[in-house]
Amino acid sequence: MTAKLDLERIIDDPRTRIIVCCGSGGVGKTTTAAAIGLRAAERGRQACVLTVDPARRLAQSMGLTSLDNTPRQVDGVDPASGGSLHAMMLDMKRTFDEIVEAHTDPDRAAQILANPFYQSLSSSFAGTQEYMAMEKLGQLRHADEWDLIVVDTPPSRSALDFLDAPQRLGRFLDGRLIRVLTGPAKVGMSFMGVLNAGFSMMTSALTKILGAQVLKDAQTFVTALDTMFGGFRERAESTYRLLQAPGTSFVVVATPEPDALREASYFVERLDAERMPLAGLILNRVHTSPASRLSTARSLAAAENLESQNDVSVPGASSAVAAAALRMHAESMQLGQRERRLAEHFTSAHPAVPVAEVAAQPEDVHDLAGLRVVGQLLCEP
Ligand SMILES: Nc1ncnc2c1ncn2[C@@H]1O[C@H](COP(=O)(O)OP(=O)(O)O)[C@@H](O)[C@H]1O
Ligand SMILES: [Mg+2]
Repeated sequence: MTAKLDLERIIDDPRTRIIVCCGSGGVGKTTTAAAIGLRAAERGRQACVLTVDPARRLAQSMGLTSLDNTPRQVDGVDPASGGSLHAMMLDMKRTFDEIVEAHTDPDRAAQILANPFYQSLSSSFAGTQEYMAMEKLGQLRHADEWDLIVVDTPPSRSALDFLDAPQRLGRFLDGRLIRVLTGPAKVGMSFMGVLNAGFSMMTSALTKILGAQVLKDAQTFVTALDTMFGGFRERAESTYRLLQAPGTSFVVVATPEPDALREASYFVERLDAERMPLAGLILNRVHTSPASRLSTARSLAAAENLESQNDVSVPGASSAVAAAALRMHAESMQLGQRERRLAEHFTSAHPAVPVAEVAAQPEDVHDLAGLRVVGQLLCEP
Protein backbone atom coordinates (compact mmCIF):
# COMPACT_ATOMS: atom_id res chain seq x y z
CA MET A 1 0.00 0.00 0.00
CA THR A 2 1.30 3.42 -0.94
CA ALA A 3 2.09 5.92 1.79
CA LYS A 4 -0.06 8.97 2.26
CA LEU A 5 1.65 12.23 1.34
CA ASP A 6 1.70 14.33 4.50
CA LEU A 7 1.77 17.77 2.99
CA GLU A 8 0.83 19.50 6.24
CA ARG A 9 4.04 18.28 7.85
CA ILE A 10 6.06 19.60 4.92
CA ILE A 11 4.28 22.96 4.99
CA ASP A 12 4.69 23.32 8.75
CA ASP A 13 8.34 22.27 8.82
CA PRO A 14 10.42 25.47 9.08
CA ARG A 15 13.21 23.69 7.23
CA THR A 16 11.04 23.57 4.11
CA ARG A 17 11.97 26.68 2.17
CA ILE A 18 10.89 25.82 -1.37
CA ILE A 19 8.03 23.72 -2.73
CA VAL A 20 7.97 23.15 -6.49
CA CYS A 21 4.76 22.01 -8.18
CA CYS A 22 5.37 20.29 -11.49
CA GLY A 23 3.41 18.15 -13.92
CA SER A 24 1.86 18.36 -17.36
CA GLY A 25 -0.41 21.18 -18.54
CA GLY A 26 -3.88 21.73 -17.12
CA VAL A 27 -3.60 19.30 -14.20
CA GLY A 28 -3.78 21.97 -11.50
CA LYS A 29 -0.18 23.05 -10.86
CA THR A 30 -1.04 26.74 -10.53
CA THR A 31 -4.07 25.97 -8.36
CA THR A 32 -2.06 23.63 -6.14
CA ALA A 33 0.83 26.09 -5.75
CA ALA A 34 -1.56 28.88 -4.76
CA ALA A 35 -3.50 26.60 -2.39
CA ILE A 36 -0.29 25.45 -0.67
CA GLY A 37 0.90 29.04 -0.36
CA LEU A 38 -2.38 30.17 1.17
CA ARG A 39 -2.49 27.25 3.59
CA ALA A 40 1.10 27.88 4.66
CA ALA A 41 0.38 31.60 5.18
CA GLU A 42 -2.69 30.84 7.28
CA ARG A 43 -0.61 28.45 9.37
CA GLY A 44 1.88 31.16 10.22
CA ARG A 45 4.46 31.13 7.47
CA GLN A 46 5.72 34.08 5.45
CA ALA A 47 4.90 32.55 2.10
CA CYS A 48 5.44 33.69 -1.44
CA VAL A 49 3.87 32.05 -4.49
CA LEU A 50 5.65 32.37 -7.80
CA THR A 51 2.98 31.69 -10.42
CA VAL A 52 3.48 31.39 -14.12
CA ASP A 53 0.13 31.37 -15.87
CA PRO A 54 -2.73 31.84 -13.42
CA ALA A 55 -6.21 31.80 -14.92
CA ARG A 56 -7.44 35.37 -15.11
CA ARG A 57 -10.06 35.15 -12.38
CA LEU A 58 -7.66 33.46 -9.99
CA ALA A 59 -5.01 36.08 -10.74
CA GLN A 60 -7.51 38.85 -10.04
CA SER A 61 -8.66 37.38 -6.78
CA MET A 62 -5.04 37.18 -5.65
CA GLY A 63 -4.42 40.78 -6.66
CA LEU A 64 -2.13 39.70 -9.50
CA THR A 65 -3.22 42.38 -11.89
CA SER A 66 0.08 43.94 -12.88
CA LEU A 67 3.01 42.18 -14.44
CA ASP A 68 5.72 44.03 -12.59
CA ASN A 69 7.68 41.00 -11.44
CA THR A 70 7.51 41.98 -7.79
CA PRO A 71 5.73 39.88 -5.17
CA ARG A 72 2.63 41.66 -3.86
CA GLN A 73 0.83 40.97 -0.62
CA VAL A 74 -2.42 39.08 -1.14
CA ASP A 75 -5.47 40.55 0.60
CA GLY A 76 -8.00 38.39 2.37
CA VAL A 77 -5.53 36.02 4.02
CA ASP A 78 -6.43 35.20 7.62
CA PRO A 79 -3.69 36.90 9.68
CA ALA A 80 -4.58 35.13 12.96
CA SER A 81 -1.51 32.90 13.00
CA GLY A 82 0.88 35.69 12.06
CA GLY A 83 1.61 34.47 8.55
CA SER A 84 1.35 36.32 5.27
CA LEU A 85 1.04 35.57 1.59
CA HIS A 86 2.73 37.34 -1.27
CA ALA A 87 2.21 36.37 -4.87
CA MET A 88 3.88 37.15 -8.10
CA MET A 89 3.12 36.38 -11.70
CA LEU A 90 6.26 35.69 -13.71
CA ASP A 91 6.82 37.86 -16.73
CA MET A 92 9.72 36.20 -18.46
CA LYS A 93 10.53 39.05 -20.81
CA ARG A 94 10.58 41.44 -17.85
CA THR A 95 12.88 39.11 -15.87
CA PHE A 96 15.26 38.95 -18.80
CA ASP A 97 15.21 42.76 -19.06
CA GLU A 98 15.87 43.07 -15.34
CA ILE A 99 19.01 41.00 -15.62
CA VAL A 100 20.26 43.30 -18.35
CA GLU A 101 19.38 46.38 -16.29
CA ALA A 102 21.05 44.99 -13.20
CA HIS A 103 24.31 44.37 -15.04
CA THR A 104 24.87 47.54 -16.97
CA ASP A 105 24.32 51.31 -16.95
CA PRO A 106 20.93 52.70 -18.03
CA ASP A 107 22.06 53.95 -21.47
CA ARG A 108 23.69 50.71 -22.40
CA ALA A 109 20.74 48.76 -21.03
CA ALA A 110 18.35 50.79 -23.17
CA GLN A 111 20.51 50.05 -26.22
CA ILE A 112 20.50 46.34 -25.58
CA LEU A 113 16.79 46.18 -24.82
CA ALA A 114 16.11 47.87 -28.15
CA ASN A 115 18.41 45.52 -30.04
CA PRO A 116 16.32 43.33 -32.36
CA PHE A 117 18.60 40.39 -31.74
CA TYR A 118 18.00 40.67 -28.02
CA GLN A 119 14.26 41.02 -28.49
CA SER A 120 14.16 37.97 -30.67
CA LEU A 121 16.27 35.91 -28.32
CA SER A 122 14.49 36.91 -25.14
CA SER A 123 11.07 36.04 -26.52
CA SER A 124 11.70 33.08 -28.77
CA PHE A 125 14.39 30.99 -27.17
CA ALA A 126 12.94 27.62 -26.26
CA GLY A 127 13.16 27.11 -22.54
CA THR A 128 13.49 30.80 -21.72
CA GLN A 129 10.36 30.76 -19.61
CA GLU A 130 11.57 27.71 -17.71
CA TYR A 131 14.96 29.31 -17.29
CA MET A 132 13.46 32.57 -16.09
CA ALA A 133 11.31 30.81 -13.52
CA MET A 134 14.54 29.34 -12.13
CA GLU A 135 16.33 32.67 -12.29
CA LYS A 136 13.46 34.37 -10.42
CA LEU A 137 13.36 31.61 -7.84
CA GLY A 138 17.08 32.08 -7.23
CA GLN A 139 16.53 35.82 -6.76
CA LEU A 140 13.59 35.40 -4.38
CA ARG A 141 15.38 32.80 -2.32
CA HIS A 142 18.46 34.98 -2.18
CA ALA A 143 16.41 37.99 -1.01
CA ASP A 144 15.44 35.86 2.00
CA GLU A 145 12.27 37.85 2.69
CA TRP A 146 10.07 34.77 2.74
CA ASP A 147 10.48 31.62 4.71
CA LEU A 148 8.59 29.54 2.15
CA ILE A 149 8.52 29.99 -1.61
CA VAL A 150 6.00 27.94 -3.57
CA VAL A 151 6.82 27.62 -7.25
CA ASP A 152 4.40 26.96 -10.04
CA THR A 153 6.03 25.68 -13.23
CA PRO A 154 5.38 26.65 -16.85
CA PRO A 155 3.16 24.50 -19.04
CA SER A 156 6.10 22.86 -20.77
CA ARG A 157 5.71 20.79 -23.86
CA SER A 158 7.85 18.25 -22.16
CA ALA A 159 8.59 17.68 -18.53
CA LEU A 160 12.25 17.76 -19.40
CA ASP A 161 12.36 21.45 -20.18
CA PHE A 162 11.98 22.54 -16.62
CA LEU A 163 15.10 20.79 -15.39
CA ASP A 164 17.11 21.26 -18.54
CA ALA A 165 16.45 24.93 -19.15
CA PRO A 166 18.99 26.39 -16.71
CA GLN A 167 21.82 24.35 -18.10
CA ARG A 168 20.69 24.68 -21.67
CA LEU A 169 20.54 28.45 -21.50
CA GLY A 170 23.67 28.62 -19.37
CA ARG A 171 25.46 26.45 -21.89
CA PHE A 172 24.23 28.59 -24.72
CA LEU A 173 25.28 31.87 -23.18
CA ASP A 174 28.59 30.62 -21.88
CA GLY A 175 29.25 28.43 -24.82
CA ARG A 176 30.88 28.24 -28.15
CA LEU A 177 28.34 30.30 -30.06
CA ILE A 178 29.07 33.30 -27.89
CA ARG A 179 32.78 32.91 -28.31
CA VAL A 180 32.40 32.53 -32.03
CA LEU A 181 30.14 35.55 -32.36
CA THR A 182 32.31 37.74 -30.19
CA GLY A 183 35.38 36.97 -32.22
CA PRO A 184 34.53 35.42 -35.58
CA ALA A 185 37.82 36.59 -37.11
CA LYS A 186 39.91 34.84 -34.52
CA VAL A 187 38.02 31.62 -34.87
CA GLY A 188 38.13 31.95 -38.61
CA MET A 189 34.52 31.13 -39.14
CA SER A 190 32.03 33.24 -41.03
CA PHE A 191 28.72 34.17 -39.50
CA MET A 192 26.91 31.95 -41.97
CA GLY A 193 29.35 29.23 -41.07
CA VAL A 194 28.20 29.49 -37.51
CA LEU A 195 24.62 29.23 -38.65
CA ASN A 196 25.41 26.12 -40.60
CA ALA A 197 27.27 24.62 -37.72
CA GLY A 198 24.08 23.25 -36.32
CA PHE A 199 22.91 25.81 -33.81
CA SER A 200 19.40 25.03 -34.83
CA MET A 201 17.75 26.84 -31.95
CA MET A 202 19.25 30.10 -33.22
CA THR A 203 18.57 29.46 -36.85
CA SER A 204 14.91 30.26 -36.87
CA ALA A 205 15.36 33.42 -34.83
CA LEU A 206 18.14 34.58 -37.09
CA THR A 207 16.62 33.75 -40.45
CA LYS A 208 13.59 35.80 -39.43
CA ILE A 209 15.68 38.91 -39.06
CA LEU A 210 18.58 38.29 -41.42
CA GLY A 211 19.59 41.59 -42.94
CA ALA A 212 22.51 43.97 -43.19
CA GLN A 213 22.14 44.97 -39.57
CA VAL A 214 22.02 41.49 -38.15
CA LEU A 215 25.62 40.61 -37.68
CA LYS A 216 26.37 43.97 -36.13
CA ASP A 217 23.40 43.71 -33.78
CA ALA A 218 24.26 40.17 -32.90
CA GLN A 219 27.80 41.03 -32.10
CA THR A 220 26.86 44.07 -30.04
CA PHE A 221 24.39 42.04 -28.12
CA VAL A 222 26.57 39.04 -27.61
CA THR A 223 29.57 41.11 -26.53
CA ALA A 224 27.34 42.76 -23.97
CA LEU A 225 25.91 39.45 -22.88
CA ASP A 226 29.33 38.00 -22.53
CA THR A 227 30.41 40.67 -20.07
CA MET A 228 27.10 40.87 -18.23
CA PHE A 229 26.13 37.27 -18.09
CA GLY A 230 29.51 35.97 -17.16
CA GLY A 231 28.00 34.35 -14.11
CA PHE A 232 25.13 32.83 -15.99
CA ARG A 233 26.23 29.27 -15.71
CA GLU A 234 27.20 29.68 -12.06
CA ARG A 235 23.77 31.10 -11.29
CA ALA A 236 22.06 28.32 -13.18
CA GLU A 237 24.13 25.77 -11.32
CA SER A 238 23.54 27.32 -7.92
CA THR A 239 19.77 27.35 -8.52
CA TYR A 240 20.02 23.73 -9.58
CA ARG A 241 21.82 22.90 -6.33
CA LEU A 242 19.21 24.89 -4.40
CA LEU A 243 16.59 22.60 -5.89
CA GLN A 244 18.49 19.53 -4.78
CA ALA A 245 18.99 20.84 -1.25
CA PRO A 246 17.09 19.37 1.72
CA GLY A 247 14.96 22.54 2.12
CA THR A 248 13.27 21.86 -1.22
CA SER A 249 10.30 19.58 -1.84
CA PHE A 250 8.97 18.69 -5.26
CA VAL A 251 5.38 17.66 -5.68
CA VAL A 252 4.26 16.17 -8.97
CA VAL A 253 0.67 17.05 -9.82
CA ALA A 254 -1.47 14.84 -12.07
CA THR A 255 -5.10 14.19 -12.78
CA PRO A 256 -6.24 10.54 -12.82
CA GLU A 257 -5.99 10.37 -16.60
CA PRO A 258 -3.62 8.27 -18.73
CA ASP A 259 -1.62 11.13 -20.29
CA ALA A 260 -1.22 13.09 -17.07
CA LEU A 261 -0.15 10.00 -15.14
CA ARG A 262 2.26 8.91 -17.85
CA GLU A 263 3.85 12.35 -17.68
CA ALA A 264 3.86 12.13 -13.87
CA SER A 265 5.67 8.77 -14.02
CA TYR A 266 8.23 10.24 -16.29
CA PHE A 267 8.68 13.24 -14.02
CA VAL A 268 9.08 11.07 -10.93
CA GLU A 269 11.79 9.08 -12.68
CA ARG A 270 13.52 12.18 -13.95
CA LEU A 271 13.53 13.85 -10.51
CA ASP A 272 14.95 10.68 -9.08
CA ALA A 273 17.67 10.55 -11.72
CA GLU A 274 18.58 14.18 -10.98
CA ARG A 275 18.53 13.46 -7.24
CA MET A 276 15.85 16.08 -6.66
CA PRO A 277 13.90 15.72 -3.40
CA LEU A 278 10.47 14.39 -4.39
CA ALA A 279 7.83 14.67 -1.65
CA GLY A 280 5.11 12.85 -3.55
CA LEU A 281 2.28 12.86 -6.05
CA ILE A 282 -0.83 15.01 -5.82
CA LEU A 283 -3.69 13.34 -7.61
CA ASN A 284 -5.97 16.24 -8.43
CA ARG A 285 -9.58 16.33 -9.64
CA VAL A 286 -10.42 12.85 -8.40
CA HIS A 287 -14.06 11.86 -8.80
CA THR A 288 -15.58 10.23 -5.79
CA SER A 289 -19.20 9.36 -5.37
CA PRO A 290 -21.04 10.46 -2.23
CA ALA A 291 -23.06 7.23 -2.36
CA SER A 292 -20.24 4.81 -3.08
CA ARG A 293 -21.94 1.96 -1.27
CA LEU A 294 -24.51 1.70 -4.03
CA SER A 295 -22.61 -0.32 -6.61
CA THR A 296 -22.66 0.29 -10.36
CA ALA A 297 -24.37 -3.02 -11.02
CA ARG A 298 -27.08 -2.50 -8.43
CA SER A 299 -27.86 1.02 -9.49
CA LEU A 300 -28.08 -0.02 -13.15
CA ALA A 301 -30.38 -2.89 -12.22
CA ALA A 302 -32.56 -0.54 -10.17
CA ALA A 303 -32.70 1.92 -13.08
CA GLU A 304 -33.80 -0.82 -15.47
CA ASN A 305 -36.36 -1.97 -13.00
CA LEU A 306 -37.83 1.52 -12.66
CA GLU A 307 -37.85 2.06 -16.41
CA SER A 308 -39.73 -1.15 -17.09
CA GLN A 309 -42.29 -0.30 -14.40
CA ASN A 310 -42.65 3.11 -15.97
CA ASP A 311 -43.71 1.46 -19.24
CA VAL A 312 -46.72 -0.21 -17.77
CA SER A 313 -48.05 1.04 -14.49
CA VAL A 314 -46.37 4.04 -12.82
CA PRO A 315 -47.73 7.33 -14.13
CA GLY A 316 -45.82 10.60 -14.23
CA ALA A 317 -42.17 11.38 -14.60
CA SER A 318 -40.87 10.68 -11.10
CA SER A 319 -39.67 7.14 -11.76
CA ALA A 320 -38.04 8.23 -15.00
CA VAL A 321 -36.15 10.94 -13.08
CA ALA A 322 -35.12 8.41 -10.44
CA ALA A 323 -33.93 6.03 -13.15
CA ALA A 324 -31.89 8.81 -14.77
CA ALA A 325 -30.34 9.66 -11.40
CA LEU A 326 -29.41 6.01 -10.89
CA ARG A 327 -27.83 5.88 -14.33
CA MET A 328 -25.82 9.03 -13.57
CA HIS A 329 -24.72 7.47 -10.32
CA ALA A 330 -23.61 4.35 -12.19
CA GLU A 331 -21.63 6.47 -14.64
CA SER A 332 -19.86 8.40 -11.92
CA MET A 333 -19.07 5.11 -10.14
CA GLN A 334 -17.56 3.80 -13.38
CA LEU A 335 -15.51 6.97 -13.77
CA GLY A 336 -14.30 6.63 -10.18
CA GLN A 337 -13.34 3.01 -10.79
CA ARG A 338 -11.47 3.86 -13.94
CA GLU A 339 -9.58 6.61 -12.11
CA ARG A 340 -8.76 4.20 -9.28
CA ARG A 341 -7.33 1.66 -11.72
CA LEU A 342 -5.17 4.33 -13.37
CA ALA A 343 -3.95 5.54 -9.98
CA GLU A 344 -3.14 1.98 -8.94
CA HIS A 345 -1.20 1.49 -12.14
CA PHE A 346 0.93 4.49 -11.14
CA THR A 347 1.40 3.43 -7.53
CA SER A 348 2.38 -0.11 -8.45
CA ALA A 349 5.07 1.31 -10.73
CA HIS A 350 6.19 3.77 -8.02
CA PRO A 351 5.36 2.17 -4.67
CA ALA A 352 7.72 4.46 -2.75
CA VAL A 353 6.02 7.68 -3.88
CA PRO A 354 3.52 9.01 -1.30
CA VAL A 355 0.19 10.20 -2.73
CA ALA A 356 -2.38 12.82 -1.71
CA GLU A 357 -5.74 13.13 -3.42
CA VAL A 358 -7.86 16.20 -4.06
CA ALA A 359 -11.47 15.71 -5.08
CA ALA A 360 -12.74 17.40 -8.22
CA GLN A 361 -14.62 20.52 -7.21
CA PRO A 362 -17.96 21.26 -8.83
CA GLU A 363 -16.54 24.52 -10.20
CA ASP A 364 -13.19 26.00 -11.22
CA VAL A 365 -11.06 27.24 -8.35
CA HIS A 366 -10.89 30.98 -8.84
CA ASP A 367 -10.80 32.66 -5.43
CA LEU A 368 -9.25 32.41 -1.98
CA ALA A 369 -12.24 30.49 -0.64
CA GLY A 370 -11.75 27.87 -3.37
CA LEU A 371 -8.02 27.71 -2.72
CA ARG A 372 -8.70 27.25 0.98
CA VAL A 373 -10.90 24.24 0.21
CA VAL A 374 -8.22 22.70 -2.03
CA GLY A 375 -5.57 23.32 0.65
CA GLN A 376 -7.76 21.66 3.22
CA LEU A 377 -8.42 18.64 0.99
CA LEU A 378 -4.68 18.37 0.37
CA CYS A 379 -3.81 18.39 4.04
CA GLU A 380 -6.78 16.85 5.87
CA PRO A 381 -8.30 14.09 3.80
N1 LIG B 1 -9.59 20.07 -7.71
C1 LIG B 1 -10.12 20.84 -8.68
N2 LIG B 1 -11.45 20.83 -8.90
C2 LIG B 1 -12.00 21.58 -9.88
N3 LIG B 1 -11.30 22.37 -10.71
C3 LIG B 1 -9.96 22.41 -10.56
C4 LIG B 1 -9.30 21.66 -9.55
N4 LIG B 1 -7.97 21.91 -9.66
C5 LIG B 1 -7.82 22.78 -10.67
N5 LIG B 1 -9.02 23.08 -11.22
C6 LIG B 1 -9.27 23.96 -12.39
O1 LIG B 1 -8.62 23.39 -13.51
C7 LIG B 1 -8.12 24.40 -14.38
C8 LIG B 1 -6.63 24.18 -14.61
O2 LIG B 1 -5.95 24.37 -13.38
P1 LIG B 1 -4.51 25.05 -13.33
O3 LIG B 1 -4.12 25.11 -11.90
O4 LIG B 1 -4.50 26.35 -14.07
O5 LIG B 1 -3.65 23.96 -14.11
P2 LIG B 1 -2.13 24.03 -14.60
O6 LIG B 1 -1.47 25.16 -13.88
O7 LIG B 1 -1.54 22.71 -14.25
O8 LIG B 1 -2.19 24.24 -16.07
C9 LIG B 1 -8.42 25.73 -13.70
O9 LIG B 1 -9.58 26.26 -14.28
C10 LIG B 1 -8.69 25.34 -12.24
O10 LIG B 1 -9.60 26.22 -11.61
MG1 LIG C 1 -0.46 26.75 -14.65
